[in-house]
Amino acid sequence: MELRVQGAARLQGRIQIPGDKSIAHRALLLGALGKGRTIIQGFPANADCLATLDCLQALGVRIEWTAPEVVSVDGRGRLQEPVQVLDAKNSGTTMRLLLGLLAGQPFNATITGDASLCRRPMNRVTVPLREMGARISGREGGRYAPLTITGGNLQGISYRLPVASAQVKSALLLAGLQAAGTTSLEEPAPSRDHTERMLAYLGVDLVKEGNIIRIKGPQVLAGGRIVVPGDISSAAFLLVAGLLVPEGHVVIEGVGVNPTRTGILDLLAEAGGRIQVKNHRVFNGEPVADLLVEPARLKSFQISGPLVPRLIDEIPVLAVAATQAAGTTIIRDAGELRVKESDRLQAIVQGLRKLGGAVEERADGLIIHGPTALEGTLLESHGDHRMAMAWAVAGLLARGETVVKGAECIGVSFPGFVHCLAGLGAVVGY
Ligand code: S3P
Repeated sequence: MELRVQGAARLQGRIQIPGDKSIAHRALLLGALGKGRTIIQGFPANADCLATLDCLQALGVRIEWTAPEVVSVDGRGRLQEPVQVLDAKNSGTTMRLLLGLLAGQPFNATITGDASLCRRPMNRVTVPLREMGARISGREGGRYAPLTITGGNLQGISYRLPVASAQVKSALLLAGLQAAGTTSLEEPAPSRDHTERMLAYLGVDLVKEGNIIRIKGPQVLAGGRIVVPGDISSAAFLLVAGLLVPEGHVVIEGVGVNPTRTGILDLLAEAGGRIQVKNHRVFNGEPVADLLVEPARLKSFQISGPLVPRLIDEIPVLAVAATQAAGTTIIRDAGELRVKESDRLQAIVQGLRKLGGAVEERADGLIIHGPTALEGTLLESHGDHRMAMAWAVAGLLARGETVVKGAECIGVSFPGFVHCLAGLGAVVGY
């Protein structure tokens, strides 16, 4: 599908952002492994979270929708051997976290995904899970899906993660919960900590000391009530649009502001962005707030080191913002972007150049010179939801019309995105 976006002069309004994808996946997975009922409120019906839900149902877990955004999970403390191949579709979180869950279950399961997911590295989870005792086979010795796993009889391990990845950390925590003895994980830099917060909220004993997390298994999880805050990674597109469209005022309600995710807020504030964070509250151990955004002139910025995992999914839209910022923006230490839903560094460079931006590609980052006037053009989503939405934001900032090809992938994380933009006054549609 082609999404058409017109350059915008004003964005105005108040919006509620759909539930955080990372937290919703974890609520389903922990609910499935727990003993008792877990009620998840604010569950986002995006394609990624639905992939996790379908996989868990195929593993014998009873999950029901009790209201439009409310899901009830009947955890029985164990899963059942699936009859069919599990399909994680486009979702890296589904595949990697599910492998951690399955590593502790004494049966055989095969998991696959779409063409993009089957190209993404899985050895980062299969190597340590094998070390814990899981038997895993798959393409290229288990580097790529489809993967077959036979779990059970896990032993805790001490493991230093080679990359700051919350998916790897979470997979190993899910395995560690089901293993005998202590699993000790060391991260090179802090990544999102939703799994740790949710485990603690559901009564699991885990210890955090600096960059080391220890979990002693096996432990039984209880069910609970989980309210999913709005997804800051979805809010990011509206934040950047609200800052850079010349006029208006945008309020985004109920956004998760966990400090492992708020790199974008810190960065934009430093670059001169006018964002107020108000009405702080806490849902199941996760901080939440409303964001008030007003137009501002941005200065260029630098992204590197430990800031990278705190805004990894926001880099496509921040690269669009950098074209409007005065000065040279430097993004480094972001080689992980090459193994996301698309090679995002390459996708950003191709698209920004077509829009008239001045960008240089590096092995692990980008250099963007601003400000430049963008011209509406035809852009590729590369089947990547965050690229498609970043291009829609670029379209709001560009002169004339921008067309985003393959924009249906937006449904992977934010099915209501176009509707939200239209509600703020943007001229946008399929
Ligand atoms: C996620 C972790 C990040 C992020 C992804 C969601 C998660 O991936 O990019 O969108 O829910 O744990 P990595 O763990 O690969 O960095």
